[in-house]
Amino acid sequence: MNILFVTSEAVPLVKTGGLADVSGALPAALREIGVDCRMLLPGYPVVLDKLADATEIAAFDGLPGGHQARLLAASMPEAGTPLYVVDAPALFQRPGGPYQDENGVDHVDNALRFAVFGQIAARLAMAASPLDWRPDVLHCHDWQAGLAPAWLRLAGGATPCVTTIHNLAYQGIFPPATVAELGLPPESFSIEGVEYYGNLSFLKAGLYYADRITTVSPSYAEEIQREPLGMGMQGLLTSRRADLVGILNGIDTGEWNPSSDLRLACEYSARAPAARKGCKRALQKEMGLEIAADAPLFGVIARMTHQKGIDLVLEIADGLVARGGQLAMLGTGDKTIEAAVAALAARHPGRVACLIGYDEGLSHRIEAGSDFFLMPSRFEPCGLNQMYSLRYGAIPIVHATGGLRDTVEDGVTGFVFEAPTGHELGLAMARAFDLYADARARRRMIQAGMSRDFSWEHSARAYAALYADLVAARA
Ligand code: ADP
Ligand code: GLC
Repeated sequence: MNILFVTSEAVPLVKTGGLADVSGALPAALREIGVDCRMLLPGYPVVLDKLADATEIAAFDGLPGGHQARLLAASMPEAGTPLYVVDAPALFQRPGGPYQDENGVDHVDNALRFAVFGQIAARLAMAASPLDWRPDVLHCHDWQAGLAPAWLRLAGGATPCVTTIHNLAYQGIFPPATVAELGLPPESFSIEGVEYYGNLSFLKAGLYYADRITTVSPSYAEEIQREPLGMGMQGLLTSRRADLVGILNGIDTGEWNPSSDLRLACEYSARAPAARKGCKRALQKEMGLEIAADAPLFGVIARMTHQKGIDLVLEIADGLVARGGQLAMLGTGDKTIEAAVAALAARHPGRVACLIGYDEGLSHRIEAGSDFFLMPSRFEPCGLNQMYSLRYGAIPIVHATGGLRDTVEDGVTGFVFEAPTGHELGLAMARAFDLYADARARRRMIQAGMSRDFSWEHSARAYAALYADLVAARA
């Protein structure tokens, strides 16, 4: 079975969030069970710089906006997954991140950039593809790949399409004039098409034209069929209920393995978690916290957005410090949240530490060195950090939403609270302090979490079954 995995980010090449982790690991896991999964990525500078061996295998013209592009073939560093890269320098070779410039402002031509990306995905699935290799299924991720199923269907292509929602909050919405600019047929701008409350939505297009819709946890698949988490798409999603399924993400258990993680001060395992003490001490030192073996240390790693509920952490932080706790925070994002976090750390030197920025190594050391991990997300399609926490023995404290609800078991592997408020988070924190005082109970919870299996194999099999279904239905 041939699958083209269409994604706008993938570790270790380019990452802004969990989509990159999934794209780095799932295709490899699929290949391991015999699925010929290949990836399509945009040729951002960070991608091309890391692919010395990329060779041109095709060229496209007549793309949206009159653009041209080259298709390069390479393979993913480490995993070796076959990779196709869309090289269109006018669209992708520029400073900044994949979606935003250096000032955090969306690239003005994002519609065109990802329309071109989506169209190349579609052309690779058509009879007229320049490649010998044809996908049996086009698997598209988030709004950035949303036009691929639209282009494909509008051009008469029949290859089955799957659209996976990683986060319904990002819908790729552009003004109606964009429809003509991109060369989408005017009749596609309707409810039965790419139109979404008077605008063009790439995500809506991806959902409307896909044969199947998946999202990254069973609970989120339910939640998005209603307000508020449906975020305007609940009508469409409810009507497609029969085609919608939640498949829980896995984690890369090679990359995230406390018994072989070279980023850590000490290695440890579920059987002998006591060596975590050394990681805690090293983390306190690295982040400028007081070296205090018995101060409960709470970690936070997140994109600093409203979604992640960082403001709730800020609400309880004074109480946490007053009870003798410490807080280690890592993240970047919204400037006002960043400033509030920095101000909190300044108010509690030695007790609250933050690093505003992106730091892969530190993210591993926070998981290994913290006693507890706070994740009060207002919504969370899946969430990876709580699974990293379980695997690293940092007891997660999470809001009962989406993938958090599906991965953390209250009182057994962590603490789960029902409403995203400072009050409820505070109550969960109090339970954590009580547990901390009971060494045996704490050890039991750490071991229960560390022995849970979140490897990708299970999810990969679920995706493979879904692809097989689609291929059989088409035949
Ligand atoms: P989301 O995709 O919504 O951001 P996830 O929990 O699925 O949330 O994935 C977040 C990923 O990004 C995790 O791998 C996490 O460790 C990582 N991450 C987020 N912020 C940072 C940061 N500032 N430094 C290092 N890693 C980060
Ligand atoms: C999104 C979601 C996150 C999920 C990730 C990978 O960024 O916010 O919950 O884990 O995608 O699917």
